[in-house]
Order: sequence, then structure tokens, then C-alpha cells
Amino acid sequence: MKDVKDLSREEAEKELAFLAAEIAKADSAYYQNDAPDLTDADYDRLKHRNSEIEAKFPDLVRADSPSKRVGAAVQSKFNKITHRFPMLSLGDVFSISEVDDFVISVKRFLNTADNIDFMAEPKIDGLSFSARYENGIFVSGATRGDGVVGEDITENLKTIKQLPLTLPPDAPRIMEVRGEVYMAKKDFFELNEKNTAEKKKLFANPRNAAAGSLRQLDSKITAERKLSLWAYTWGETSEHQWKTQEQFFDKLKEWGFPTNPLNKVCHSLTEIEENFAHMMEIRADLPYDIDGIVYKVNSIELQNRLGFLTRTPRWAIAHKFPAEQALTRINNIRIQVGRTGALTPVADLEPVNVGGVMVSHATLHNEDEIKRKDIRIGDTVVVQRAGDVIPQVVEVKIDKRSQNSLPYEFPVVCPECGAHAVREDNEASRRCTRGLTCPAQAKERLKHFVSKDAFDIVGLGDKVIEEFYDDGILGSPADIFTLEERNGSTEAVVDLFAEFDNGLHLERRSGWGTLSVKNLFAAIQNRREISLPRFIYALGIPQVGSATALLLAKNYGSFDNLQTDMCALQTEKLVAIDGIGGEMAKDIAEFFGEEHNLKVIASLRQYVHVADYINEEITDSPLSGKTIVFTGTLENLTRAEAKANAQKFGAKVAGSVSAHTDYVVVGADAGSKAKKAAELGISVLSEAQFLMLIKQ
Ligand code: IVH
Repeated sequence: MKDVKDLSREEAEKELAFLAAEIAKADSAYYQNDAPDLTDADYDRLKHRNSEIEAKFPDLVRADSPSKRVGAAVQSKFNKITHRFPMLSLGDVFSISEVDDFVISVKRFLNTADNIDFMAEPKIDGLSFSARYENGIFVSGATRGDGVVGEDITENLKTIKQLPLTLPPDAPRIMEVRGEVYMAKKDFFELNEKNTAEKKKLFANPRNAAAGSLRQLDSKITAERKLSLWAYTWGETSEHQWKTQEQFFDKLKEWGFPTNPLNKVCHSLTEIEENFAHMMEIRADLPYDIDGIVYKVNSIELQNRLGFLTRTPRWAIAHKFPAEQALTRINNIRIQVGRTGALTPVADLEPVNVGGVMVSHATLHNEDEIKRKDIRIGDTVVVQRAGDVIPQVVEVKIDKRSQNSLPYEFPVVCPECGAHAVREDNEASRRCTRGLTCPAQAKERLKHFVSKDAFDIVGLGDKVIEEFYDDGILGSPADIFTLEERNGSTEAVVDLFAEFDNGLHLERRSGWGTLSVKNLFAAIQNRREISLPRFIYALGIPQVGSATALLLAKNYGSFDNLQTDMCALQTEKLVAIDGIGGEMAKDIAEFFGEEHNLKVIASLRQYVHVADYINEEITDSPLSGKTIVFTGTLENLTRAEAKANAQKFGAKVAGSVSAHTDYVVVGADAGSKAKKAAELGISVLSEAQFLMLIKQ
């Protein structure tokens, strides 16, 4: 066998395909029949060879690579835990002026000019956990998961010595302590050294090592890994025994949790800035990885007033360290066609290590961006990676450009189907004009449809969608739900009647086996009942992300309500929704105006039941289900605070008065909206009356 370093690209690609098939075959022999056809040592040797080749050619990693598959298969077997309080994420900022904007927005929301103290905490690059204690005893532990449902890692957490298994008698009867599990740099290097010696998989960075170690089905493996933790926030608690984040840390210490000694209260923006600069300086010498600083409003009372946006608190933000950069070469510029037909240029790079991660592609955004930066094939460029975003080309090194290089010419036809690609006046992107008959668009729509925030069908990854589309197995979303029926019997006996059998037999495809096909069908079955926000998001309406889908679900309640309004060209309610602008409303209406989309929806709904949206907000309040409009200047509440309160009590907030409005709250100097309310006979409330309604 050739040494990996002597492999050509073609050879590597071929061998990776071979390894994927071999390992898949061995997996299914093992899992299905409990009868491995390879010895453990041989199996490990194949996997090791696979990861070695992948490490050398990171851009050849297959979507069905065994290095990815193992994780997924294990994952599905964890028990799920629904968090009683969602585990939120944080908004990101990258500069001190954005931190300043954040501080200003906090003050504006609270309508105060007073100084506000912030707790500045190192942002640990690990994996968040939630540990639940009942009557002083640790009863369960969970990962964050999607923030709503996490994985049960109770036994694994117990193996981390720093986690107290009991709390003192005066701690709250119910107490969820949250924080970050991480692997210290030293322990990460040791683990990788050991794995190298044992020819086992290497981890790319301490974060991956921590995640891989904590999310083990066999907690004995977790126990062998050196994991550490910091505690920093709480979930459910029966008793708030602290008034500030600072006091909360004191409690945590009292109860025996490790808290980061670098957490620090800052009293001004200058202190915040100094602290940030200091942390940047000592960052490399810290024994663990951090990727920024988190600022939290110190006062819990103010935190409660500020409340939450969809997925993030209004009272905290993450200030990330600047992006990591590296120099490399653009080998090629490729055009990708997205689900709405937009042509997006992507740079294929000479693979380069950017802050610990191998990068082989970067987005070039659009035609104008390429022109503006005059990016050309063969150029030497600075690429950067910040957080989880796609790497970007920041700058071209013109002095390194070869003399015969030519400017890049953006194609005017779709590279996938050859149709004209046109650019509307007000658009940044050129679009393929063939719609869903362009295979690239159809595939992208399918990929979006099964993606994590949409139908979330595990087993239908990008590569599988491509193959199934190319082979005529899947054409449109509804086809997913007839797969099982079309597959034919999985019993071996049908071979005898092969000539009468026109089933798909997915299990005979390379990389598939009876078990993986069974798992796929189970995943699809699971999705025959789908929530309204997921369904709306899955449709792939231009501009409608999951936050907008949620807004639509909240405001319409059922898919029929939305579709009926849209098909009757009733957009009054739509445009009145706070958070939906004119352009977006136009895209939504246009989507429903297209015959083809209605057909896709109708055929989908033969197989899928879309559950109505039930508002989880307080439902026994006089505001629940009502549509409310604010106008004029309020005295006691800022507009943002008033809106947030109305939503908390189950109301929908609209921006303009219409026949759908239930209440108009008028402050000082109210203008045309108050007048319109009077004309339409809508109840008008003063600020005081509104406050009464939300105090009940
Ligand atoms: S607070 C509502 N504090 O960052 C508050 N998070 O981007 C939510 N993280 O999922 C989290 N260090 O995994 C908080 N000191 C810290 C943190 C921290 C790291 C992680 C955490 C969270 C993510 C949010």
C-alpha cells in the first residue's frame, strides 16, 4: 500500500470511495447481524487510513465519510431531555463600538441614563451543559442540543470530578446549574498523543475533543478523558437567592462549583475595553481555549426587565476575538446555484490552516464583490475565519499576482443547466431563470427541505439528496414520503421474483444496508407530523428564515389561514406584522402566487400533517391572542419594553392599525394611528390601562 504522502489527488479520491464502501459494509455486518466480518484491528486500520487521507486532502472528505457517519449513528441513541427553560445562545459582536451599541440599546430599552454594571466573563470554547439538582441531589444532566431539547448525559457528567453531586441544605430545592465543559489544552495534546500511538482518530481542537468525550454512549470512555468545567448561569430554580450575576457566582462557589477567577465586574465601557485588551494578551497563555468575552447585565432585576429575543437574551452579548487569518492561493472560482437560483461564487483554495482549522473553500459573495476586490483565479489572498461563519477572502496580494492573469468573468448562463442567468436591477445576485426545472435549484430546495431547522431528516444528507435526485429517486419534497412504499420488500426472498420486482431497493445501493434504510424510513415516518414554523421554513420562501417562519406561525396559527390569505391576495395582516418588511411580504405573496409552489404544497400535505401553532405565552391573560398597536410616546415604558411585555402576555404586536387590530395603546402626541383606531371603532387604551392589563 502506498504511503499517504505519495498519493495523488485522483488516487486519494478513489481510495476514500473504496474505504467508505468497505467500512459501511463492515458496519452493517456488525450492527445488523452482530457478526463482524473484519477483525477489530483490521477495521481500525481502515478507519485510520481513511482519516489519514482525509487529513491530507480535507477537500475530498465525502459526505458519506465513515468519519462523519459514526458520530451520527451514535447520536441518535441518546435519550432526549427537554429543557424546562431553553438553553439560549448569545448574539455576537466583533468590535468595541458594537459593544457600545449594545450598552446603548440596553439603556434605551430600560429608558435610563444611569450607569449599568456588566459582568465580563471569558467565553469558554467548549460544550455547554445543564445539571439539575432536586432536593440537593444531582438528578440529571443534558447537553444544549438545539436549545430546546438536549441529550441525556447524566452518567457522563457524573464522571467529571469537579461537578458536585450534592448541594448544601440551604440551596434551592430545585436548581439547574449551567456552564461549559471543556478540555484543557494540555489534556487535549496528551489525548492526541495517546491516540496517535494507538492509531486512533485525532481531534482537531480541544472543543471537538471535549464534545467527543462528553457525548459518549459509554460513560466509561468519558471517565477516561480529562474533562473540566466552569459554571456560569442557571436554568430552572425554585428560589432566586441572588440579586446580581456576581452574587450568583458567590453562591456557585459556596455550593462547590468551579467558577472562572477571571470573571470581572466592569463599571464602564473603558473598563470593558481594558479587560478585553488584557484578555487578548493573556489568551494564548491560558490553560484552556477562549474565543471571546461575554458581557452580562449584572443586576438580575434588570435582566428580567430586558427579557429575551427569539434565541438570545437582550441582557447579554458575546464580544468575539478578531478573526484568524492566513495566506493562501485561489486554485479555482466555482459558481454554486442556490435554491432560489442565485449564482454564488466560491473560491477553491489551496488548503490552509487558519487558527487550527483546515480551510479549503471561501465564499466570494457575489459578482460585485469579485469586481470590487478584483479577485482572480491564481491570486494569493488573505482568508479569514470568524466563529462558525464561512471563511472569507479579505484581501488580494496584488504584488504576488502573475503577469498574465486575467480578470474573472462572471458567467451569464447557469453553469448547471445552461439557462440564461439574469440580474434584476435592485438585486445583488444573478439568477438562473429556469426555476425548479434547473436540477441545481431542485436539489438545493430538497436539501433545504430536509435540513436541521426544517424537516430535519437524519440520513438524507447533501450527498444522498444529490444521488437520489440524479438517479430519479427524489424529484420534489413529497417524493420523500413515498420512498418506503416505492422501495419494495427488503426480504431477500424477493430475489426469486426479481423480474416482477420494480422496487427501489435502497439497501442494495453502495453505502446503504438494511439497517441504515430502516433508520431512514423511521426518520421520515417521524416527520409526518410537523410543527407549523418548521413547515413554513422548509418551503424555502425567499428571505423567510426560521425566525420569520416563527413570526408567521404565531400570527396565522395554522397553515390554512396563511395560505388562504395569501391566495386571496389579502396582505394587510402580513404587512402589519412587526418584523416583516415590504420586500419580504412581497416575496411571501409571490411565492404563494406561483402555481407550481401550490402544487408542491398540496402534494406534500397528502402525506404530512402540519400541526397548528399554539402560542406558549401566557394564555389566560386579557391580551392573549389579541393584536395590539402602539403609537405615540409612552411615559413609563420604552416602546421596545412595551412590545416585549405585550408579547410575553400572548399578544401580537402590529405596526399599523387595521380591521385585525384589537387594541391601540396611545401615548403622548399620538397621530394618525389613534385617529384610524377611532374611525374603525377599535378599543383605545392609555398607557396606564395597558399597564393594568399586564399586571394582572
Ligand atoms: S451564557 C443566556 N456565559 O457560549 C446565556 N455562555 O454563544 C447563555 N459560553 O451556548 C450563555 N462561556 O456554550 C455564557 N461565560 C459564559 C460562556 C458561555 C461560553 C458559550 C455557551 C453558549 C454559547 C453562546
